[in-house]
Amino acid sequence: MQTIETIIELHKAREAITGRVGAVYTMGALHKGHLALIEQARAENDQVIATIFVNPTQFAPQEDFSTYPRSLEQDLQLLRDAKVDVVFNPLTEIMYPPNYQTYVEVGEIARGLEGMRRPGFFRGVATIVTKLLNLTEPHNVYFGQKDAQQVAVIKQMVRDLNYSLKVIVCPTVRDEDGLALSSRNAYLDKNQRRAAPVLYRALQAAADLYEKGERTPKALRLAAQKVLIAEPTVEMEYVSAADAVTLNELFEATEKPLLLSMAVRVGKARLIDNLVLPAALNNRDDLTRILGGA
Ligand code: PAF
Repeated sequence: MQTIETIIELHKAREAITGRVGAVYTMGALHKGHLALIEQARAENDQVIATIFVNPTQFAPQEDFSTYPRSLEQDLQLLRDAKVDVVFNPLTEIMYPPNYQTYVEVGEIARGLEGMRRPGFFRGVATIVTKLLNLTEPHNVYFGQKDAQQVAVIKQMVRDLNYSLKVIVCPTVRDEDGLALSSRNAYLDKNQRRAAPVLYRALQAAADLYEKGERTPKALRLAAQKVLIAEPTVEMEYVSAADAVTLNELFEATEKPLLLSMAVRVGKARLIDNLVLPAALNNRDDLTRILGGA
């Protein structure tokens, strides 16, 4: 595995690759969710490029950039074991040198849900992902369902900026008790970790109702909210039932695929999770097709 820290070296390494490239972009603190993306990339491409970069432009000033979990040596070992070919791990000054001035801003699809609660977040994500796409020139790029709006925003950007590549969405990887794997789970103490699977239980409650025929977005949101409210360790931020293609909040019953998503605070962790309904659509091909549109 080649570990690269500079743009020049990355250009050279990319030029030397002839086959199909799969890319997985991460902020490190790798877990089984990241490894599932890499496994998929490994299976479908000749070479795999992974990146580790905690991107400062996607954190608001009061957010957790300085405390975000960092475990570089362990991450590199995991990537080596996963047979990644190239890892790009630049310093902040390499990606954002002094006098850096260019940002990528995606419209409508980036404005609701997470975009509304985390101003500047998707501008930072779209900017760094654009830079990483330009540098790594993948044929396929892999993202996790857990960040469903991120996937939709990136798909929109890929279409709008005419990138010739495929964005592939892999289903959320969960612990046995249903908690979606996230680097930020490291912030949870024992009691908070015990409470955190309530997100999954809340999603399931709405999914069960959907399964029984309920299609009214308000009723589905309420079913999830009820479960969240019953867990005092967790502070609910929002529960949304949105069109899975446009991410517009829904108010009328619909048979269209629906993205049920939520964010909560548990101690100093802000956790998000989601499920696409009908639940049978939570697989790689359907998620890739539906989330944010084709
Ligand atoms: O999902 C993440 O880890 C980040 O938002 C990403 C896509 C690596 C951009 O910094």
